[in-house]
Amino acid sequence: MPAFWLDAFQPGRAGWYVNAAAGLVNQSAPAVVEEIMPEAEGIRARMEIQLWQGYAPTPLHRLDGIAGELGIGGLWLKDEGPRFGLGSFKALGGAYAVYQFLASLIEARGGYAGVTSAELRAGKFHEIVSQVTVATATDGNHGKSVAWGAQQFGCACKIYLHGDVSPGREAAIAAYGPEIIRVAGDYDHSVRQADTDATENGWQVISDTSYPGYREIPRDVMQGYTVMTSEVVRQLAGHVPTHVFLPGGVGGLAAAAAAAFWRAWSGQRPRFIIVEPETADCLYQSALAGQPAPSSGDLETVMAGLSAGEVSLLAWDILSETADIFMVLADALIAPTMRRLADDGVIAGESGAAALAGLAAAASDSTARAAMGLDQNSRVLALSTEGATDPEIYQRMVGRSAEVVLTNRRP
Ligand SMILES: Cc1ncc(COP(=O)(O)O)c(C=O)c1O
Repeated sequence: MPAFWLDAFQPGRAGWYVNAAAGLVNQSAPAVVEEIMPEAEGIRARMEIQLWQGYAPTPLHRLDGIAGELGIGGLWLKDEGPRFGLGSFKALGGAYAVYQFLASLIEARGGYAGVTSAELRAGKFHEIVSQVTVATATDGNHGKSVAWGAQQFGCACKIYLHGDVSPGREAAIAAYGPEIIRVAGDYDHSVRQADTDATENGWQVISDTSYPGYREIPRDVMQGYTVMTSEVVRQLAGHVPTHVFLPGGVGGLAAAAAAAFWRAWSGQRPRFIIVEPETADCLYQSALAGQPAPSSGDLETVMAGLSAGEVSLLAWDILSETADIFMVLADALIAPTMRRLADDGVIAGESGAAALAGLAAAASDSTARAAMGLDQNSRVLALSTEGATDPEIYQRMVGRSAEVVLTNRRP
């Protein structure tokens, strides 16, 4: 392994826990997958989103150089940077949940079933939609998706940001026209404020995380994410990976991906490894406790999109039975991973690089390699969930702007 990885990935910068409760790799998907993410709803979400203007599958990069350096047989990286021009896979979830909410409301109020997003964009139900306000708290990417959905479909939108959301991320959300409300404290404070204000004012919360009594909307959000997983299955054209590394915030993305990949590759499913910041480790702590448990750290991390204090309950129900390994990482591993990807012309933001950083940490530690079954024959898929969503932070961490990285991309 080149000194490059070994320098950054010194022992003690990552930890992992093997989840004995995960179903066996040769079994079919556990019942909880269909209970929480019914396939019929997933098909509906994918058919809808693929009709949206600007839809195009995002790239799946084959990274042979990095695979060789890490001593594995093959590496594929799904690159969500170009997704709908919003910079992350989150474009798929929040906006779809806004659409679904409006369609159900129009059905309930006006008796029109099967409202299409094209009808909403054309203002066909303006009288109902213009009375609606959607609201959410966000670390950045989910809020951008909700604001984009509200703008497309014609309702009002309030976005709650906590103190650590960078000005660059605020500006990117503001471009979609919502009212932005800054809240003192951390992410959990902003969630509570959004919820209180929504209840008082009759707004609809569109959250990507589920808590007691709030399940339907986060389910739609997760179904939206399966656009990405179904693209991966098509792009791999019959090749089934042995391992999939997934970043974890509240767990919605990882749960949706583990559920969808298990279904797609039933009987030969890969091992699922969830990667979180060590300061925002709610999924890891929940795995240790065997039930939902809060993060042990202060939620301060460069991986802004993964800064979550509590798991999404729906996501936890899926991950507790599908995730094989829960990993935690030090922030110090992120910049080297972003730079190594930039050398190959791939732009990954701070949260986007987490899954590959998790793989590199595991691959450079012989005990972790053995625990995870990583070797020269492993074919690994990692999700890079965002591009340079804050261009200034990207340039600071990589030492080059995203534009320069793209210009130097090898053909
Ligand atoms: C870029 C990025 N990656 C991963 C995640 C994690 O998704 P989840 O919170 O559903 O686990 C987020 C969440 O905001 C994100 O913005």
